[in-house]
Amino acid sequence: MSVSIKTAHEIDLMRESCRLLEIVHDELAKAIKPGISTKDIDLLGEKIIRSFGCVPNFLNYNGYPASICVSVNDEVVHGIPNKHRILREGDIVSLDAGLIYKGYHSDAARTHAVGEISPEAQQLIDVTKQSFFEGIKYAKAGNHLHDISGAIGAYAEKFGYGVVRDLVGHGIGTSLHEDPQIPNFAQKRRGVRLMPGMTLAIEPMINMGRPEVCWLDDDWTVVTEDESLSAHYENTVLITDGEPEILTLTK
Ligand code: MF3
Ligand code: CO
Repeated sequence: MSVSIKTAHEIDLMRESCRLLEIVHDELAKAIKPGISTKDIDLLGEKIIRSFGCVPNFLNYNGYPASICVSVNDEVVHGIPNKHRILREGDIVSLDAGLIYKGYHSDAARTHAVGEISPEAQQLIDVTKQSFFEGIKYAKAGNHLHDISGAIGAYAEKFGYGVVRDLVGHGIGTSLHEDPQIPNFAQKRRGVRLMPGMTLAIEPMINMGRPEVCWLDDDWTVVTEDESLSAHYENTVLITDGEPEILTLTK
């Protein structure tokens, strides 16, 4: 395993890739309303990405057939947009998006409420987001990668939630998925030592119920085995000499 260290120039390109992706997410967030189809969300996302002269990095990745992963309720990640899948009041929806700018990838996910949702569902969304922030408290040069993993998992488990084990975050740069893998729960080993210039996609996937997941027959959509709700929150993060820079969250 080798973790790439980006040069100052590469970091500038990563920053721009991520800044543009943040705009995509901000625009998609405004479009989330009861009545929109998951396909409409995908088409809008792809249109915005291409309007920047960028390329959606998920499209055709290992055969994935869309630009935005749209995962509703008990769908954890990699939901496939469909014009017949209409969002309804009370749903939660996870949007995972990424793009390529001048050869550099960005990757981020947000989970949104559709109209009014239950307090329990809102707590799941909030805790999933906060687990990311608990994790990146440890995203400092000199610490070890799994310090982040342990902090994410410990926070989410305090609420009785199931931390997904079968999917992980990852390094990112000239490829969408680079070393290292980034689990969202405590590990036996410490993992690589963090160094300035590493760019990492940290992405807790948290279930209201048990941690187990399974794959639908479309070979993509990951769902919770117990059909409980699931939330996802992800940013591309730069390790620096000081505080981490959250490249896909600048505002
Ligand atoms: N954001 C996802 C990840 O981190 C990417 C989805 S893979 C795709 O791995 F194939 F569905 F695009
Ligand atoms: Co990712």
